[in-house]
Amino acid sequence: MLTNKKILLCVCGGIAAFKAAALTSKLVQEGASVKIIMTESAKEFVTPLTFQALSRQPVYDYTFYEPNPENIAHIDLADWADVVLIAPATANVIGKLANGIADDMLTTTLLATKAPVYIAPAMNVNMYNHQAVQKNMQILRQYGYHFVESGEGFLACGWIGKGRLAEPEDILEVLKKHFQPTIGGLSGKRVVITAGPTQEKIDPVRYFTNHSSGKMGYALAKAAKERGANVLLISGPVTLSPPYGVEVVPVTSAKDMYEAVMTHFEQADIVIKSAAVADYRPKETFEQKRKKQPGVWSIEMERTTDILQTLGEQKDAQILVGFAAESEQVEFYAKDKLKRKNLDIIIANDISAEGAGFKSDTNIVTVITRDHRKKTYPQLSKDEVSFNILNEIELYMERNAIK
Ligand SMILES: Cc1cc2nc3c(=O)[nH]c(=O)nc-3n(C[C@H](O)[C@H](O)[C@H](O)COP(=O)(O)O)c2cc1C
Repeated sequence: MLTNKKILLCVCGGIAAFKAAALTSKLVQEGASVKIIMTESAKEFVTPLTFQALSRQPVYDYTFYEPNPENIAHIDLADWADVVLIAPATANVIGKLANGIADDMLTTTLLATKAPVYIAPAMNVNMYNHQAVQKNMQILRQYGYHFVESGEGFLACGWIGKGRLAEPEDILEVLKKHFQPTIGGLSGKRVVITAGPTQEKIDPVRYFTNHSSGKMGYALAKAAKERGANVLLISGPVTLSPPYGVEVVPVTSAKDMYEAVMTHFEQADIVIKSAAVADYRPKETFEQKRKKQPGVWSIEMERTTDILQTLGEQKDAQILVGFAAESEQVEFYAKDKLKRKNLDIIIANDISAEGAGFKSDTNIVTVITRDHRKKTYPQLSKDEVSFNILNEIELYMERNAIK
């Protein structure tokens, strides 16, 4: 997967710089071409000679060393890379990148590159949890930078907590995943994705909702965007930041969600309905807060409009993908829903299973298609699940000659 891939490894000044040496060796063994930039601080931890010997390339560390009059080194490096990896990424470099500072070879190249950048932070747990560092990482996520999450455990500084550099093997896996070929059918397609819960008002302070976090829909939106789709994310109230480059329509109730989806349905090529839309809402709502009263308060509930059903009825050439979150007889109910609602693909998940469902960072799904393909995937991160779901959609398009 990594043969002849051009990887620019940016090494910053932290104890974990030694792991970057092990990573360089692994990348070279995988056939990648690796070039390295080091900060001044990084050279306090590991010598450039180590990286030079492991990569068989000169190490770059000074912006104004320009031995080749035909080019400018940092622009050349920035343009050369297929992918850039910052490992370890210090709090300092994360802060500089989030704020557009380019005061050395490494940060200057980072601002100049158009290549995808993966950031693998490593630092003391208190540095990691510092509001400024968290905010900078948040900004970078919004800018579209990818993160290789730090691990938790014993840190070299003596503290225990989050901040360990991801293991070189894990970083390698992330890069391999990056280069994993996709089928390519989503490029330029208009994809509408719904995510999160809805809130059904009772009075100005109370509402009915559910446990959906929106993580699955947001991961799908990010993954579809990365495949070149034009993504519109219709989102219920969640605490997630919208993925970079994705247009978001925020909604609150099932009725809002219905109206937003119907507005955009006609122009859509693909609709993925991952939102957990309320099936019922209070029949009566109150403009003023309902005061405490003695005795029981019974609230009569009425059905909301079934969005997926309506889309299935009105569907023309759109590919319609639904989710079936079930807690029993998952496959049976999913197949029934696929047929009843006129879907192309249904993603079934057992919300009662460990590591699956609403708030979890992972999911276990079975993909069932209208043309009778069924594939069960193991427990995977929601990013990986999204990758597989989008592959399944592209395969479905290919099998059914949908352009
Ligand atoms: C022994 C030692 C270990 C350090 N480890 C880290 C670290 O793991 N992460 C980090 O963000 N900073 C660490 N620092 C602080 C950075 O080296 C310092 O902030 C430096 O300015 C970073 O420069 P750079 O970001 O240009 O590489 C460490 C400093 C020392 C002395």
